[in-house]
Amino acid sequence: MKGRWREFKPAEDWSHHVYRGRPAYPARFLEASKFHEPGLAPARDASGAYHITPDGLPAYESRHLRTFGFYEGRAAVHSDDGWFHILPDGSPVYQERYGWCGNFQEGRCPVRLPGGGYFHITAGGAAAYGERYRYAGDFKDGRAVVQRHDGKHTHVDAAGNPVHGRWFQDLDVFHKGFARACDSGGWNHVDVFGKPLYGERFKSVEPFYNGQARVEGFDGSLSVINESGQTLLELRGPAQSHLQRLSDDMVGHWRTQTIHAAVELGVFERLPASAREIEGQARLPCSFGDRLMRALMELGLVWRDADGVYHASGRGGLLMGKGRLSLADAARHWGTESYEAWSGVAEALRTGESSLERLRGKNLFQWMRNRPADLRAYHSAMSAYARHDYQGLAQRVDFTAHDAILDAGGGHGELAFALLRSCPGLKATVMDMPEVVASAKLPADLKGRCRFVAGDLFRKWPIAPDAVILARTLHDWPDQDALRILRRAREAMSKDAALYVIEMVLDDATGRGGLLDLNMLVMTGGAERTAKQFGDLLSQAGFDLLNVTGTGSVSSVIQAKAL
Ligand SMILES: C[S@@+](CC[C@H](N)C(=O)[O-])C[C@H]1O[C@@H](n2cnc3c(N)ncnc32)[C@H](O)[C@@H]1O
Repeated sequence: MKGRWREFKPAEDWSHHVYRGRPAYPARFLEASKFHEPGLAPARDASGAYHITPDGLPAYESRHLRTFGFYEGRAAVHSDDGWFHILPDGSPVYQERYGWCGNFQEGRCPVRLPGGGYFHITAGGAAAYGERYRYAGDFKDGRAVVQRHDGKHTHVDAAGNPVHGRWFQDLDVFHKGFARACDSGGWNHVDVFGKPLYGERFKSVEPFYNGQARVEGFDGSLSVINESGQTLLELRGPAQSHLQRLSDDMVGHWRTQTIHAAVELGVFERLPASAREIEGQARLPCSFGDRLMRALMELGLVWRDADGVYHASGRGGLLMGKGRLSLADAARHWGTESYEAWSGVAEALRTGESSLERLRGKNLFQWMRNRPADLRAYHSAMSAYARHDYQGLAQRVDFTAHDAILDAGGGHGELAFALLRSCPGLKATVMDMPEVVASAKLPADLKGRCRFVAGDLFRKWPIAPDAVILARTLHDWPDQDALRILRRAREAMSKDAALYVIEMVLDDATGRGGLLDLNMLVMTGGAERTAKQFGDLLSQAGFDLLNVTGTGSVSSVIQAKAL
């Protein structure tokens, strides 16, 4: 009977299809999945992967590594020479071979080039547009989501044209005229013009079903909202009451100091260990090991097995003393000088003066000059954060346009090292204070491509670069000093040379970065800044702000051009 296959179901062990409770045909396969129009199903046996007819017979002769269902008359297949689409008779739709192929929806299909780069192809296999994206999804209702190389998402139409021109941190296809979208404040719903339906942001939102959507608040509450964002129904209250949340925040230093104590006592290097073993090795009085480990367990930094042995959790593992990504020195920094400085935050807000400088009589960088151990610990912490945060930078910003870069205030050079390893044609100079440069180590694989020079950000710079990076350096200084640094940079650079300022960008809409901003105030008298504040400072120093790109970590890249 024609169309019988529509009632076929894969057998429980996926070795054949079942029709009305009986095997649909005699053949057996290693794997046979669902039938799709025009009555073909992907199947695999010892000869390879192909498609079968409702009689369980091969639809064509060729064999592949893997085959997928037919959509709009074309099926994706993975062969030795790559991915492509075939027609029901097994013939290829086009000559190209891709690194991956999706399925056709609405006459378009996302594909990925072997070296990376997504785009859509037409039913004939031609590129639907010239752009290449970091990711491209399926079409639905005439629109697809694409992700740019800086991580931002938008909607495009079948010809690849922007639908509304708005870019989001994350985005979904349209469902009945609305799409789930995420900006720096969180998730919400947007209309076909990319405009938010309401002001509130959520930790997550579901699509609207018949005018209502389930959403989860940042406080853990669950509710149902309507298309104006009004709450219609509370499904679950906040995970923490106001009292609990406030109480936790008021004793935030308990966490800082428990982590600091565990690092000082070398707890994480001793794991896995029982509380008794920790007590013995760290010389703690009897039962104090239990008290410390219990607190670390509450913080999710260790877990205890059935024998009472403690193990480091994924997060706790980051506090082990050795290792490129260890944050042990960062924990010491937050538990000592940062902790001291924060006790004076109210006074710093009154006077605009760094609390640390008031306590020590010198700014942080001058104070560390004659204290090699503190200088080493500070740069070890900075380098570890740099290794975490700057990893993907070269994938988001194109540094290959430059022959050489200067990383001013570059510390021990981790950012420069990451860029050089991603851009084989690039050379770098790292400039910092003499003591810092003297204690930096150049990795063997970068010899000849990277050098350290001693230089003062506030005095004439010793080299004339065609591209400058200032990473987490301007935030150490108040506006008048940041401007002096930018002017020194401009003076060293030629017209049209590129400047990359890498900093956390404050978001007034959500308050994001507000605590880090206060940290800069108490530590150095510096400040985090909004995109507008960066734009103003840059133009006063003779630069034009070109764009601000997210890096996937806390920092953004503010790209500017010397005027
Ligand atoms: C917060 S750290 C940032 C380090 C690195 N750029 C990063 O992103 O990890 C600031 C850097 O500025 C350097 N610095 C401070 N004052 C300086 C000065 N007057 N001249 C040169 N470098 C200075 C410090 O030594 C330190 O390496």
